[in-house]
Amino acid sequence: MIPSPNIWQTPEVYEIENLASDRAGVIEAAMDELHPFAGARLLDVGCGTGFHLPRFAELAEAVVGVEPHAPLARSAWQRVCRIGSPAQVVRGGAEAIPLADNCIDIAHARWAYFFGSGCEPGIAELARVLRPGGTAILIDNDATCSTFGSWFQEAYPAYDPAAVQRFWDRQGFATRFLTIQWTFDSAADFAAVIAIEFPTYAAERILSSWQASDPQRPQVDYAVALRWRTF
Ligand SMILES: C[S@@+](CC[C@H](N)C(=O)[O-])C[C@H]1O[C@@H](n2cnc3c(N)ncnc32)[C@H](O)[C@@H]1O
Repeated sequence: MIPSPNIWQTPEVYEIENLASDRAGVIEAAMDELHPFAGARLLDVGCGTGFHLPRFAELAEAVVGVEPHAPLARSAWQRVCRIGSPAQVVRGGAEAIPLADNCIDIAHARWAYFFGSGCEPGIAELARVLRPGGTAILIDNDATCSTFGSWFQEAYPAYDPAAVQRFWDRQGFATRFLTIQWTFDSAADFAAVIAIEFPTYAAERILSSWQASDPQRPQVDYAVALRWRTF
């Protein structure tokens, strides 16, 4: 498993982050353009607490979330049961997806496992579970621009966006750069999310120096890389 301290240690704050992210649905619209949800069997790899599963289940024919961290897999299952969503949840990781060959039309992973070099076993698994013509769609940060990107690059200077891009180019993935928004309902929510996404020194610097145009409802532009490959 790739350590994910933000959601493992503070799932309730990660929920706030998910609720703040991309309320306009920019990512969802881009996904639908690449491979229509309608009629598709969709896999969410590294689904965490299953935040995206109910929405995907409204759009697609069938949805399964795969998550290796047991407490999160349980939370995801509880979420779909609580609201009566038809999505399924299975415990497992990207390197050994517990699904049959050729059974998925869209494989989605959002800020999960597929971060560049080292994730080749997971890419082989995507190739195995996707039907011919199926599409893998991976969402990650674009650290080269936007307010969030500048914070990320400053906090994690060893991160090399050019090397990550070369990796995905070599793997045959195309990249579409998008800008989403983080929209928080309070300054406290914003501060809580900054604290789980950045080391303490970086979080303190962001919170003391960045001026939101509406401090009661902070909004942050956030560049993301959507990478996809049709198998
Ligand atoms: C930052 S969270 C994102 C969760 C979810 N995709 C979301 O958008 O709410 C990263 C997730 O990847 C999961 N993860 C870690 N290693 C993994 C692996 N090898 N295969 C699949 N998922 C993994 C973590 O347990 C965690 O749930």
